[in-house]
Amino acid sequence: MTKTMMIVKTLPEVRQARGKLPGPLGLVPTMGYLHEGHLSLVRRAKEVCASVAVSIFVNPTQFGPKEDLSRYPRNLEGDLSLLREAGVDLVWTPDNEDVYPPGFQTWVSVENLTLPLEGAVRPGHFRGVTTVVAKLFNAFTPDRAFFGQKDAQQAAVIRRMSLDLNFPVEIEICPTVREADGLAMSSRNAYLNPQERQSATVLFRALSAAKTAFEHGDKDAGHLRALVEFTIAAEPLARLQYVSCADFDSLEELEQIRGRALLSLAVFVGDTRLIDNFILG
Ligand code: PAF
Repeated sequence: MTKTMMIVKTLPEVRQARGKLPGPLGLVPTMGYLHEGHLSLVRRAKEVCASVAVSIFVNPTQFGPKEDLSRYPRNLEGDLSLLREAGVDLVWTPDNEDVYPPGFQTWVSVENLTLPLEGAVRPGHFRGVTTVVAKLFNAFTPDRAFFGQKDAQQAAVIRRMSLDLNFPVEIEICPTVREADGLAMSSRNAYLNPQERQSATVLFRALSAAKTAFEHGDKDAGHLRALVEFTIAAEPLARLQYVSCADFDSLEELEQIRGRALLSLAVFVGDTRLIDNFILG
């Protein structure tokens, strides 16, 4: 027998619905336009939690003024039917006013970890992410929350925020889900035309080339970054925004890899900005 999925809009409704759910509660925060990557988080949440909640909210405060907020892909009906099929118990689909009350002026912001990488090229992005995730944690009071490794810096920043603010939430980071040709799943892949979609495999190819070199003994972070640059430069539709080989915990750029490292990059394929990463070591 399929149980009914509760779909709510306002914060009091979330709190009331959450109160009816048996714990532990798992939360999967999303911006919608769901794909297999999101569904893998839902499945993992269902494995380890008695109840699963999902939020669908395209959070305006994490988009820069020149970014893709207005054209960010949306498909609420499709998302809800995927979540119903996946056996989710509660979905919150707030409007902006349900999340940001009039006169809003309180932010959550993580310091050093948000300075490099995405933080350097998307000023204000992580302040928007941590603020909305803190609000989601307050609304749902989940026992566990699930995020994807594809957004590696976001995962690190949310873990830090949760520790620093003593949220009683266990943060679980789940592996990146990829298409058959290696492209990391992302709602933004929908922007790619067929030619760009083919070129977009260059992120995976570049990371794989560097990983192979690393596994053959090359621990020089500069070499690995150069290998990525070289692979991206050979793809006419792609333009590298940054490549980083950084310490996995501090995200500080490395010269030599000794412990665990995060190899990450951002690439424009046509006008679409894509990110991806591998963990080395
Ligand atoms: O990863 C995302 O989709 C968003 O950044 C998140 C965590 C749902 C916050 O808006």
